[in-house]
Amino acid sequence: MIGGAKNAAVAVIPAALLTEEICVVDNLPYINDVFALRDMLEFLGAKVELPGGGRMVIDPSGVQNLRAPENLTKRMRASYYLMPVLLGRFGRAELPFPGGCAIGARPIDQTLKGLYALGADVENVGGVLCATSEGLRGGDVYLDMPSVGATINTMLAAVLAKGNTTIVNVAKEPHIVDCANFLNSMGANIKGAGTDTIRIRGVKRLHGTEYTIIPDYIETGTMMIAAAASHGDVVVRNVIPTHVESVSAKLMEMGVRIDEGDDYLHVHCTHVKQYRAANIKTQPYPGFPTDLQQPTAVLLSTAKGTSIITETIYENRFKYIEEVRRMGANVRIIDRVALLEGVDKLYGARVRASDLRAGAALVIAGLMAEGETIIEGVRHINRGYENIATKLAGLGADVQTLIDDLPEYD
Ligand code: EPU
Repeated sequence: MIGGAKNAAVAVIPAALLTEEICVVDNLPYINDVFALRDMLEFLGAKVELPGGGRMVIDPSGVQNLRAPENLTKRMRASYYLMPVLLGRFGRAELPFPGGCAIGARPIDQTLKGLYALGADVENVGGVLCATSEGLRGGDVYLDMPSVGATINTMLAAVLAKGNTTIVNVAKEPHIVDCANFLNSMGANIKGAGTDTIRIRGVKRLHGTEYTIIPDYIETGTMMIAAAASHGDVVVRNVIPTHVESVSAKLMEMGVRIDEGDDYLHVHCTHVKQYRAANIKTQPYPGFPTDLQQPTAVLLSTAKGTSIITETIYENRFKYIEEVRRMGANVRIIDRVALLEGVDKLYGARVRASDLRAGAALVIAGLMAEGETIIEGVRHINRGYENIATKLAGLGADVQTLIDDLPEYD
C-alpha cells in the first residue's frame, strides 16, 4: 500500500499558508520531512494538527513570524517553498538557505529568476534569503531547465500576483500537477500543469480547502524494485500506474512481468532466475527518475551482462556505489556514468546511507544480499519512506528482521 507523495506534500503544506483559512490535507505520508514542515509552520505562527490517518489540519490565520528557523530549513530543500508563499501573502520573507540531500550543487538561480520576473527583490544577507516586494505582479518566465523547485516556487508566487504569469519549460512531474490542483482547489487559476507551459491568472485571495495528495510514484517504483530484488510476486496497491511507466518499462526489459490495474501493479518476478542487463539514463519526468536511479542500479548489479547507468540530473548521485561495491558489486564510474558488470551475488555488509535514495538503494541491496546487511544513517530513509520496514515485511520474513535491526542513528 503506497502512501502519499513526499514531494507533493512538501509543496502543498507550505502552500496552505497562502490563505488565512483552514486547510485540511489528506493522504500525507507521516515522514520526517512532513514533521519538519509542521514544526516550521508552527514556528511561523500557524496551528497544525496531525490527527492520524495521513491527515494534517492547518490553521494559518496566526502566521506573523516571517523568518523561517535555520535549524529546520537546513534539514530539507522544500523549505524554500515558504519564501514565495510568505512573499505572496505578506510581501516579505526571510529564509535561511535550504538544505536537502547532498547530491549535487543544487543552485537556486531559476527560482530567483522566477521571483524577480514577478517583481520580488531577493538578497542573500549572510546566508539568509531576504525577499521583499511592493506587491507581486504577473510576468513571463522561461526556465533554463525544467526545474521542479523553480516551477513550484514561481507558481506559488504567481497565484496571488496581480495579472497573468506564463512559465515556459516547466517541470512536469506528478507533484507539480498535484500542487497546482491543490492551489486551484483554494481558488487559484492555474492552467497547463503537466505540460511544458503553465499559465496563471493571479487572484486577489485564496480560501481554505480539503485536499487529498496523490500516491508517491517514487515509493511505488521503490516497492516494484524491491519486489524484483526479492524475486517475489507482489501487488503494489494505491498507485497511479501511468506515473511509473518509465520504471515498469525498464523492469519489463529486465525480464519482470507487470500486470496493470486502475490503482495497482502486480509485479511477477518468481519466474526470473537472473535479470537481463539494461541501460538507464535519468531524465526529467516522464523520463526515468533520478530518484530511482540508485535502487535500480543496485538491482542491475547482479543482472546478466553489463549495464550502463547515466545520471544526467545530479553530479553527485553515485555515492551509494562505494557501499554496494563493499557488498560485492562490480562497478566502474566514469564521470556521470556507472558501468555495472553483473556479478552472481551481493553479500551482506555494514553500510552507510549518505542520503534518502542512497538509503533506499542499500535497502534493495540488503534484500538481494546473502547474509545480514546493517544500514547506518536510517534517518535519511525516514525522511521519505513511511513504515518501510512494515511494508517490506510483506515481501518475506528475512526483510522484517533485516529492517528491524537497523540502527536509528547518523
Ligand atoms: N537546477 C539549476 N538551477 C536551479 C534549479 C535547478 O541549475 O535554479 C538544476 C539542478 O542542479 C538539477 C536540475 O536542475 O541538475 C533539476 O533540479 P530540480 O530543481 O528539478 O530539483 P529540486 O526541485 O531541487 C526535486 C526533488 C528531488 C528530485 C528532483 C529531480 C523535491 C523536494 N525534491 O528537487 O527529490 O531528485 O526534483 O526530480 O521535490 C528526493 O526526493 O530524494 C529528491 C532529491
